[in-house]
Amino acid sequence: MEGFRGTSQDTLVIKAPKRSPLILRTVVILFVMVCGVYICSITVKQSNAGDKSTDRYLNVDTKDQTCPDITGVEESQLQYLHYPKPKTFTRDECACNPVRYFAILSMQRSGSGWFETLLNNHTNVSSNGEIFSVAARRSNVSTVLDTMDKVYNLDWFTSASKNDCSAAVGFKWMLNQGLMKHHAEVAEYFNRNGVSAIFLFRRNPLRRMISVLANSYDSKAKLLNGTHKSHVHSPLEAKILANYKPTVPVKSLVQELVQVEEDSAKAISYFNSTRHIVLYYEDLIRDRTKLVDVQKFLKLPYRELKSRQVKIHTGPLSHHVANWDEIKKTLNGTSYEKFLHSSY
Ligand SMILES: *[C@@H]1O[C@H](CO)[C@@H](O)[C@H](O)[C@H]1NC(C)=O
Ligand SMILES: *[C@@H]1O[C@H](CO)[C@@H](O)[C@H](O)[C@H]1NC(C)=O
Ligand SMILES: *[C@@H]1O[C@H](CO)[C@@H](O)[C@H](O)[C@H]1NC(C)=O
Ligand SMILES: *[C@@H]1O[C@H](CO)[C@@H](O)[C@H](O)[C@H]1NC(C)=O
Ligand SMILES: *[C@@H]1O[C@H](CO)[C@@H](O)[C@H](O)[C@H]1NC(C)=O
Ligand SMILES: *[C@@H]1O[C@H](CO)[C@@H](O)[C@H](O)[C@H]1NC(C)=O
Repeated sequence: MEGFRGTSQDTLVIKAPKRSPLILRTVVILFVMVCGVYICSITVKQSNAGDKSTDRYLNVDTKDQTCPDITGVEESQLQYLHYPKPKTFTRDECACNPVRYFAILSMQRSGSGWFETLLNNHTNVSSNGEIFSVAARRSNVSTVLDTMDKVYNLDWFTSASKNDCSAAVGFKWMLNQGLMKHHAEVAEYFNRNGVSAIFLFRRNPLRRMISVLANSYDSKAKLLNGTHKSHVHSPLEAKILANYKPTVPVKSLVQELVQVEEDSAKAISYFNSTRHIVLYYEDLIRDRTKLVDVQKFLKLPYRELKSRQVKIHTGPLSHHVANWDEIKKTLNGTSYEKFLHSSY
């Protein structure tokens, strides 16, 4: 850009000696062009060097000068379009397809695994799983931000990576995996790098609690032929897992339900200046048009999305717990009473 601006100013100088022969003009123009190219190459070299010394991928300008300007995109959307230059491969024919960054912010047993398989069924979405379940990656703010840099630069590889032709790249992040702890730095990172947040919560925290208890039991009992599965792909497996009926500790029940609701409200408020959408698992199950909303939010070409996962706890809650009467009595007259009888 600098080089071009320089040339247009120099033409003023060229115009002055009007009677000079054509050859002289040509020489001057050529000289200016060579200088322009030289200045350009120096600038590129310097920005590469800067890149290396800071060792952060994402601080570079998101606008790629080698890609044509996208027309028809609102000004306010430009900060969400990125042209990553992965260190590990080239994006080939999709190098000029803009990529959007997202993060699914959720809690364990809230349907985020299922939701992620749906998103990954899109040919242009790479959602790389629960990357911060590995403690070392969230040991401090720098490891957290470095990990995100890699993901958003498309240098993170999982079975979900679609690499060159990803139009949206992200991962899922549980609130208790360093997200709440480092919320200020993470929100700042999201805002600076144009990352959109997708909150996924459950309206019914009671059913979620039963899923947490059952999943925790199965991690030791390993009901499926000695293997522990948090998500299943067949009705038979779902039935075997649902056979286990946990006893819900009622003494702390109300307090824990309040805590879960407070945590989700807090998370949403921490990211209130970040572009975001709030989804509820129950709504996604009931109403598949919610998946249209998600695709619109990520500005993806619309696709019908499918998941092979099968829900484990279906039907009335009373079938899934050992101490139903006790739970009923505990929640009688509280704001959680309505969750006893909802079917998701
Ligand atoms: C989406 O799901 C369908 C049905 O399970 C499958 O045939 C298709 O390959 C999936 N597409 C992607 C990109 O995973
Ligand atoms: C963050 O953690 C990593 C790995 O655990 C460590 O190497 C690094 O020195 C830590 N950085 C800071 C600023 O504490
Ligand atoms: C989606 O992926 C296909 C190849 O799988 C590619 O041709 C297309 O350009 C991509 N679309 C977007 C919006 O990136
Ligand atoms: C457990 O293993 C047996 C024998 O390999 C097989 O027939 C059965 O389907 C398996 N059950 C599940 C739930 O995977
Ligand atoms: C965003 O949330 C913070 C608390 O985290 C609050 O102080 C602030 O008023 C909120 N801003 C808006 C615009 O809702
Ligand atoms: C709920 O409490 C009311 C009184 O507050 C009582 O009449 C009713 O039987 C209770 N229901 C259950 C299911 O315990």
